[in-house]
Amino acid sequence: MTDERRFLVLYGSQTGTAQDVAERVNREAKRRHFSSKVMALDSFPVGDLLKEQMVVFVCATTGQGDPPDNMKLFWRFILRKNLPENSLSHLSYGVLGLGDSSYQKFNVISKKIYKRLLQLGGQPLVPIGLADDQHELGADVVIDPWLKVLWDRILQLFPLPPGKAIISDDICPPPRYKVTFLKENGYSNNLLPASHPNLNSSPSHENPFYADILSNDRLTAGDHFQDVRHIRLNIKDSKIRYNPGDVVMVMPQNLSKTVDHFINHLGLDGDAVFSLAQNDADIQLPSTLPNPCSIRHLITHYLDISGVPRRYFFELLSFFSNDEREQEKLKDFTTAEGQQDLYNYCNKTKRTYLEVMQDFPQTSPRIPFEYLFDLIPPLKPRAFSIASSQKAYANEVQILMAVVEYQTKIQEPRRGVCSTWLSRLRPGEVKVPIWVKKGTIRFPSDNVPIIMVGPGTGLAPFRSFIQDRISENIGDNYLFFGCRNKDKDYFFEKEWNEACNSGKLEIFTAFSRDQEDKIYVQHRITENGDLIWKLLDERKGYFYIAGNAKQMPDNVTSAVKEIIQKNGGRTEEEADLYIKKLEHEKRFQVEAWS
Ligand code: 2AM
Repeated sequence: MTDERRFLVLYGSQTGTAQDVAERVNREAKRRHFSSKVMALDSFPVGDLLKEQMVVFVCATTGQGDPPDNMKLFWRFILRKNLPENSLSHLSYGVLGLGDSSYQKFNVISKKIYKRLLQLGGQPLVPIGLADDQHELGADVVIDPWLKVLWDRILQLFPLPPGKAIISDDICPPPRYKVTFLKENGYSNNLLPASHPNLNSSPSHENPFYADILSNDRLTAGDHFQDVRHIRLNIKDSKIRYNPGDVVMVMPQNLSKTVDHFINHLGLDGDAVFSLAQNDADIQLPSTLPNPCSIRHLITHYLDISGVPRRYFFELLSFFSNDEREQEKLKDFTTAEGQQDLYNYCNKTKRTYLEVMQDFPQTSPRIPFEYLFDLIPPLKPRAFSIASSQKAYANEVQILMAVVEYQTKIQEPRRGVCSTWLSRLRPGEVKVPIWVKKGTIRFPSDNVPIIMVGPGTGLAPFRSFIQDRISENIGDNYLFFGCRNKDKDYFFEKEWNEACNSGKLEIFTAFSRDQEDKIYVQHRITENGDLIWKLLDERKGYFYIAGNAKQMPDNVTSAVKEIIQKNGGRTEEEADLYIKKLEHEKRFQVEAWS
């Protein structure tokens, strides 16, 4: 293919949705005979933008209006003030944003990228597309028409090569990898990267540290609605160094029962060993999979068989069906009209790949093995706020984790892959692949007052920081903690009592369900308005909020705003500006997760 038909798709994706969409754009480009490639923004050498003629950016915006992790470097680069004007005047580009309109900063990342590329002389192919996860029928409602306009425009600029037509989507695309089964099943665990940890570099996704579990304790009472765990991981002999606010990444594995069901349903031989080769020069082999690899290893450690299938899964699966009824149903799910049905069937109920395959019993056992890589995305690492301080526990990373389990219309409860797997591990059983990353919360190193608001598992980063400060003999720590009941989910009560007795900590608790009326952390903040105001205004303290209750950060911020108005004699607008200034000085930080 000539260089003329070069096409690049770059994505910034946190949960994988933007990556999925980017891969779809890439497939559609190939069907139009472009020599196309798809990459995460931070895997792309940014200087090469000067050589590209046509790039589509697919960028998610995370809940707090931040860029996804795999585009942070690009983000910093592109916003640099000293980039020469018109340096991208050769570049035609499109930007598709993926966001959630229930958050204030809807699609800010893609909007800023679109504008910045324009400033640098780039030529937009089409106006920006702003997809919304909150839309009842999913983001495709925006994505489908946006892509249609995009391709119309691109084919005007770069018509199909003479004699070629768009490759129909009725033709099954080639698999992304070539698979060869090895005759001998001489596969042993020694082939696993786990046995060859590279201890010379700091652990990463490609090269995790395999940590032993030191303990795994349930912190909530046996009759409490939620199982919350305190897990201690041994990082002795690793190069892991972390600070309060950092996160530990955990690479989970699928439960062996689920793996067995999957293998049985597809009629696979778990012990069979295969090797993988590239089938498309633009698609790299997976960097986290041993090669050769056994089927059981692939299903256990690599494929996200408990994830929820996306539309493309049904499209691809339909090619393998020879059952009229099943094929018709699969095809329905890929049409515009079928999206509500697909949403109800899959997303609402959180049906998994395995369960969907079981619902198509004539089709799924016919899937050619190599297509599993195209059908099912890889398992993603999960991030946990570190709940310990390395100053207090030199050889440990500790986490505070709620085990995710909930009910949908499906009888079998939905379970979080990572939390369920971790919660069932006993010390000495299995090693946990981990590495650490900088978190978004940053704590000051000087001796200033710190107010921390962390209901539930939001407590984790604050436990790390309080341990850090206490081991350096720094006091002036104020913790607001909320949970349902003093007797059921008050985490680390003994530790807090000791810290309070030593004069290094003041704790304010809100037990929401120990009395008739709900008491939340924000009520305690309001009650202690004089103290908060003094710590913030007079003593230039720092204020932090962390947690997963959706409304909590907003409610707490409103309580602080009222204190600024009442104690500081400010108007509402002035109080807003006051908080903005605190944010700017990094003295007001929020870390929320779901
Ligand atoms: P609830 O479950 O009784 O509503 C940790 O999850 C604690 O945070 C619980 O006590 C929970 O109370 C509370 N919580 C729930 N929503 C909240 C909100 N909007 N603001 C503050 N705390 C909240």
